[in-house]
Amino acid sequence: MIGKDLEQAKEILERGGLVAIPTETVYGLAGNALNPEAVSSIFAVKNRPSFDPLIIHTSELDKVADLLMDIPEEARLLANAFMPGPLTLLLPRNEEIPDIVTAGSDRVAVRVPRHPLSRQLLAQLAFPLAAPSANPFGYISPTSARHVADQLGDQIPYILDGGDCEVGIESTIVGFESGQAVVYRKGGLSIEKIEEVIGGVKVRAHSASNPTAPGMLKSHYAPRVPLLLGDLTTLLKIHAGKRLGLISFESTFDEIPVENQVCLSPSGNMEEAARNLFKGMRALDQMDLELILAEMLPESGLGRAINDRLKRAAAPPH
Ligand code: TXA
Ligand code: MG
Repeated sequence: MIGKDLEQAKEILERGGLVAIPTETVYGLAGNALNPEAVSSIFAVKNRPSFDPLIIHTSELDKVADLLMDIPEEARLLANAFMPGPLTLLLPRNEEIPDIVTAGSDRVAVRVPRHPLSRQLLAQLAFPLAAPSANPFGYISPTSARHVADQLGDQIPYILDGGDCEVGIESTIVGFESGQAVVYRKGGLSIEKIEEVIGGVKVRAHSASNPTAPGMLKSHYAPRVPLLLGDLTTLLKIHAGKRLGLISFESTFDEIPVENQVCLSPSGNMEEAARNLFKGMRALDQMDLELILAEMLPESGLGRAINDRLKRAAAPPH
């Protein structure tokens, strides 16, 4: 069921059930992070491998302070600047957090979403919510309640409808290694903004074999229709005659029908492009296409996170 009833969402979560929740990045599939059975059902519904840890969501960082060993100075600075918001911090945790949440790691991922409905819900709960993106494992993250309902609707009792996601791309994940900030996933908070607050950060490209971020598999966010990345004018020539979809940054092309084209931001705005990316990929994936052609954005601001998702979508299925 889809609705806006916070009471009902709260009731389900308190008895160990799952609720899909809106956040400003993407929708999450939420359960009580301190209840191992609830967390285990999240993995089951998503068909997600148990080695891929979950982010815990709270209305305020200090509300989960009891579950953490400590909060490094730089983490504090980032939290003050960007929480609530599209930032996830990897922080040393204690044993109160079930191992299933962190896949055994001694760090837990913590996020304070900014979406008003989720904030209200989290503020009313006595426990944090473990929540991965509310999509079947390996598919594109949902940015509307409808997206969640289309794929997981029959498996979750309630979808809290908070409208379309304002950011549209997952949170940026930041951890600390010997005091040095490291970005493990590029996301809705740009690296430039992070660096304004704490100075230079390392960016760690992730892969299936990276033990620090076990879940960051290369082929992720993938549509079913194969996606090719490159120069669109060239690709359109090579693949002329096929049933094509197109994802472009600013331009539309005369070679194929407009209905088959997703122009992420006609005005060249990265925020708008991020908001439209997953929605556009989904829409094209639902058409009867042979191939989706896409181009990369400039490698700055949210363009970096968008390019990361496009590259993952283009990776051949493993
Ligand atoms: O914007 C977001 O972050 C959304 C919304 C719902 O909050 N959530 C999200 O969760 O994208 P998910 O599970 O789809 O992606 C979380 C990523 C995974 O790749 C996982 O491996 C990594 O975070 N992660 C979570 N906990 C971790 C930990 N303790 N150590 C290393 N990586 C972790
Ligand atoms: Mg995900």
